[in-house]
Amino acid sequence: MQYAKIKKSKSDYKIYLANASSDLSSLNLSASETEHLEIQTKKGGTAHIQRLPEHIFIYINRDDEKKENWWTLEEFRKAGDSLGRTLNKLKAKDTDISSLGLGSDQTLAFSEGMALGNYQFLRYFKPGKENSLAKINICDDSVSKKQVDNLGFTTDAVYYARDLVNTPVQDMTAPIMAEEFKKMAKDADIKIKVMGKSQIEKEKMGGLLAVNRGSIDEPRFTIMEYKNPNAKNKKPYVLVGKGVVYDTGGLSLKPTANSMDFMKSDMGGAAVMSGTIFAIAKAKLPVHVICLIPSTDNRPGGNAYAPGDVITMHNGMTVEVLNTDAEGRMILADAISYANRYEPEFIMDAATLTGAASRAFSHHGLVAMGNEQSVLDDLHKSGYRQFERVCEMPFWDDYAELLKSEIADMQNVGGAEAGSITAGKFLEKYAEHPYIHLDIAGPSFLKKGVSYRTTGGTGFGIRLLFDYFANK
Ligand code: BES
Ligand code: ZN
Ligand code: ZN
Repeated sequence: MQYAKIKKSKSDYKIYLANASSDLSSLNLSASETEHLEIQTKKGGTAHIQRLPEHIFIYINRDDEKKENWWTLEEFRKAGDSLGRTLNKLKAKDTDISSLGLGSDQTLAFSEGMALGNYQFLRYFKPGKENSLAKINICDDSVSKKQVDNLGFTTDAVYYARDLVNTPVQDMTAPIMAEEFKKMAKDADIKIKVMGKSQIEKEKMGGLLAVNRGSIDEPRFTIMEYKNPNAKNKKPYVLVGKGVVYDTGGLSLKPTANSMDFMKSDMGGAAVMSGTIFAIAKAKLPVHVICLIPSTDNRPGGNAYAPGDVITMHNGMTVEVLNTDAEGRMILADAISYANRYEPEFIMDAATLTGAASRAFSHHGLVAMGNEQSVLDDLHKSGYRQFERVCEMPFWDDYAELLKSEIADMQNVGGAEAGSITAGKFLEKYAEHPYIHLDIAGPSFLKKGVSYRTTGGTGFGIRLLFDYFANK
């Protein structure tokens, strides 16, 4: 989606955003148009007035003042998504969005919902299914050029992440994904280094190599860095993303009929973290961030790691593997251990780590935990602003007890209870710096789209993290 900031409306498809107290006189509505508008938007919503060749859409939000601001902003995103679908039916190529005295947040949210809902994954279709809508012109003085640019960067990042997630493993192996990172990094002036198997062996990343043993494809370990010369942080923030391009469970093969159907999405964390550094670099936010992506598929090939194996990890700790389907933590632990060398301000990971996270909150929020409360508190604020809400779980040390092994430093599963927290506690053992864990198993992938979160990969987490770093 292209965005532009314009002074005067030119498109035949004009959208006006309003609330109950907006002054509509500038629209010069006739008596019958006014009546139509009143009927259509009695409870809030969009009225369509045709003055061919012009189509005029007036969206009136009638949330009362008791509603939280973040909830109302989400109404704007959803209304933008829904009107975008109407515009595509009308074959509109572009649209002008103006505001009747609302703030910039409303205009931006409406535009964002329209753009994110316009995403399509057409790689495996013949041409001809493309949406007509390709450009949103923002005609609102309260919105700055920078805000429009940043909206473009986060939208691009979300599209990019959705593409990565939606591409099946046949076309998104670990080596292919690393090539995608290279293309993205080039576009955004991000420094990148991709390690192949021999370098990963040299680094003694035992967890990543163990998971990769059942696979035919090589693993990859990608390091990306963006350092703004005016970075406010002296020590970098390290972002780590789980890059399991396909999760069969390995020898602990996933059980039920459909549990593997969407496991191409198990690199959702990698997509979010690489998408986040992309948007940060494009927007030139004054920060220093490093992004680490350990990547492989998890398969039960002849040499696959087996339940009972004891693996020596990157930091020398040993892990008794009791379930090869708990592979995410095996590869992330190595990356978190690697992250320590940067003496980071904090280490944060995003991962489709546990079914338990998705069962706890469904797709409505990601699960967060960590040992740096101030970061979690700020994430909550960004989460509401972006409607990528953060559900915090406790991170008490009691849960680490469940990972004690009889024959190694720890075991890779903690039992049936508190599965998301024991996974987080496992990873925390590898972090020598403040640590935040985001489990995105619930919101990162939708079997059926919900409003502007389209079917498949959602990119959930990128707008949250961009907002977090933009407000740092
Ligand atoms: N990739 C899965 C988690 C997952 C499940 C993500 C469903 C998205 C949807 C992860 O590798 C996994 O298999 N986790 C196990 C952990 C268990 C063996 C301790 C799980 O959640 O069952
Ligand atoms: Zn698994
Ligand atoms: Zn997995």
